[in-house]
Amino acid sequence: MNVLILGGSGFLGAAVAQACERAGADVRVLSRSGRAPAGEGLRGDVRMPRLGLSAADAARVRQETTHVVLCFGSVSWTSGPGEVLETHSSGMRSALAFLRELPALRQAVHVSSLLALGRAEGRVTNRELYTGQRFRNWYEYGKYCAERLARDADDLPVGIVRFGPVLGPDPRGGRPDTRHGLPVAFPHLLAGYPVHLARRGDFPCWVTDVSSAAEIVLKALGTPIGRATWSWFDPALPTLADVFTEVCRPWGVVPKIVEAGPLGRFTRLLGERLGTPRELVDYTEPWFDLDVDVLKEIPEPWPVPDPDYLAATGRALRDGTRRRALA
Ligand SMILES: NC(=O)c1ccc[n+]([C@@H]2O[C@H](COP(=O)([O-])OP(=O)(O)OC[C@H]3O[C@@H](n4cnc5c(N)ncnc54)[C@H](OP(=O)(O)O)[C@@H]3O)[C@@H](O)[C@H]2O)c1
Repeated sequence: MNVLILGGSGFLGAAVAQACERAGADVRVLSRSGRAPAGEGLRGDVRMPRLGLSAADAARVRQETTHVVLCFGSVSWTSGPGEVLETHSSGMRSALAFLRELPALRQAVHVSSLLALGRAEGRVTNRELYTGQRFRNWYEYGKYCAERLARDADDLPVGIVRFGPVLGPDPRGGRPDTRHGLPVAFPHLLAGYPVHLARRGDFPCWVTDVSSAAEIVLKALGTPIGRATWSWFDPALPTLADVFTEVCRPWGVVPKIVEAGPLGRFTRLLGERLGTPRELVDYTEPWFDLDVDVLKEIPEPWPVPDPDYLAATGRALRDGTRRRALA
């Protein structure tokens, strides 16, 4: 297997690159920085023709690549439309165009997000993508566009793997990134500030750990997934309250989770003023009703998420903070 990982220098891409390398694959990682957590690093940009590669590198990659993972672009829930659509829509289009030029391509996997389902009404499965939903932010819409493009590319062997928030210590080492997505709430809670959640956060948030997510991508490449869609989350189904409690535990902090029920539809307006971080204000109520049986569409055996990954996230944050303070 000769794998090209677009966005392979990132949090999830690094774990995928390392899992592919452990499985004996030849790994190439492309990103704008060109950093390689495993295999060969290539500097490029998915928004550019030929992925921004030199003619010589593009020819080599075209000739040798048999498998591709598309996991580029950040998970910032507060990015604007320009940045999101340039990456997740235009970038996806040009990445798919590049895939069409690979004579030996056997399988590609697009890393999608369950958040592409937005505020889907009713029970959703792997079949649905558009259900008439509204989107909470441009990230959700961008991931919807990217998955739409992957689904519509029916001339290509592209399968789709959907994840909710992926947590755990950063496979590249260092302090976990708390600038985007759900992790934005961690420093806020650790500092003793409250978050307002419906049912005090007693609803699933579809998290998983980064190692099991990477193993699922590897399984999708090798099984292979074909043109199917899989969704993966921790089968133990931790609630949002469980996630916050476990991440805060190594700090000796009990998160202040306040019932948002009485605020009703004003939660969004008031949440931020009452202290809920901006990224989280649209996620304070159950996100969508996902049929948990979607897991069964992934051939067994399934990877087992590290039983301690939530506390390990908290410990990595604590140790990274100490290291930073000592530096
Ligand atoms: N993390 C999660 O919780 C999660 C959950 C579900 C789905 N996903 C999806 O997984 C993907 C990666 O997420 P992540 O958490 O690993 O994000 P990340 O840590 O920010 O990594 C993003 C990667 O994409 C690269 N990248 C960004 N723009 C690029 C461009 N124009 N051309 C080439 N490479 C580019 C980045 O490298 P450079 O900046 O150096 O270019 C980096 O390697 C995203 O598509 C995200 O939607 C993530």
